[in-house]
Amino acid sequence: MFNRDPSAMGQSLWWDQSFSVHIAELDHQHQRLFLAVAELNDAIRMGRADSMVSEVLEKVIEHAISHFAAEESFLQQYGYPGLAAHRHEHEKLAQQLTKVNLSYIAGNPDIPSSLLVFLQKWLRDHILTTDKEYSALLNARGVF
Ligand SMILES: [Fe+2]
Ligand SMILES: [Fe+2]
Repeated sequence: MFNRDPSAMGQSLWWDQSFSVHIAELDHQHQRLFLAVAELNDAIRMGRADSMVSEVLEKVIEHAISHFAAEESFLQQYGYPGLAAHRHEHEKLAQQLTKVNLSYIAGNPDIPSSLLVFLQKWLRDHILTTDKEYSALLNARGVF
């Protein structure tokens, strides 16, 4: 699914106000997720041992999955009509990340720097489009 491509390695995604969904708790979770991804970026770029990369990758997955659950429960609580499609996007990413980590733990050397490129692009696109779609509705219901 992912190919090793050192030329694709680059700067980590950095959270700024353009990513804000105007709900403090969810913004904080996105920030922590970006930090974990930056840590993974560093671990891979610095050629850290596989066990350490896997540990950091595990942390990224945990942050992502717990954030997805928290976000979905907000959306459910406030009757967000796009919840099913949103959840589907989360599930697809969680499955892809879990599959990558399992194969990494199993000693498959093909863990890709391009995973980072993919993951950062996914996060950017998802937050800027899919996540931002719930802001107005939740804000209108008094959630900030
Ligand atoms: Fe989301
Ligand atoms: Fe999110």
